[in-house]
Amino acid sequence: QEGSSGSDAETLVPGTAPGFAPFEFKEGGELTGFDIDLLAAVAEEAGYELAEWSELDFETLIPSLTEGDIDIIAAGMTITDERSQQIAFSDPYFESNQSVLVREGGSFQPESEDDLSGNRVGAQSGTTGEGEVERMIEEGTLSGENFRQFENYPLAVDALESGDVDAVVADVPVAENFAASRDVEIAFTIQTNENFGFGMRQDDDRIEDINEGLSAVQESGTYDELVSEYFG
Ligand code: ARG
Repeated sequence: QEGSSGSDAETLVPGTAPGFAPFEFKEGGELTGFDIDLLAAVAEEAGYELAEWSELDFETLIPSLTEGDIDIIAAGMTITDERSQQIAFSDPYFESNQSVLVREGGSFQPESEDDLSGNRVGAQSGTTGEGEVERMIEEGTLSGENFRQFENYPLAVDALESGDVDAVVADVPVAENFAASRDVEIAFTIQTNENFGFGMRQDDDRIEDINEGLSAVQESGTYDELVSEYFG
């Protein structure tokens, strides 16, 4: 169905935003992670080549996709109504909630959103974690002045460790990874029932093949192997 062989139709340029372990991160200078391996497996099943990965700030992924600099986003990106107005999402491939990180063993141990009041809270720009903070500001739980945006989550966790913020809101699996590797811990979680999907342009029919590839990878057991490798 795609164009003749040798056309670009069979190559996808993937884009991601590293600093989101275990989904995408750098190890010894190499990009790796659950999303990276999953998309590689899905593309192979679907009969596509993956070009070199573009590593971008999370916020610039959607504009890069719509402008055609990349063809597919694999970045632990939550399927939201707002984003669905701009791009198409594959079938969901992972479920997540948000959690609130604080300094490990610190005196600030919030148990609920109300306890965050008066404290400085950070999140990565353009994420659903940031959306949760914005919701708390709208609801009056937090003051906008206390919100700090970061280009990526590792920078937010640096700020948390050094005391520049008191809490960071991040996706649960990523927060768990930081809790295991840095001087931070999860204080409580916020149930958001998010689903991650791959993002493609709305007029790109290749998403059908990606969905078929995803089902095949889920049925073959490859998906479960990747889950145990990265979350096991
Ligand atoms: N799941 C969240 C969202 O969609 C955070 C994703 C951040 N991903 C990343 N690769 N930094 O907004």
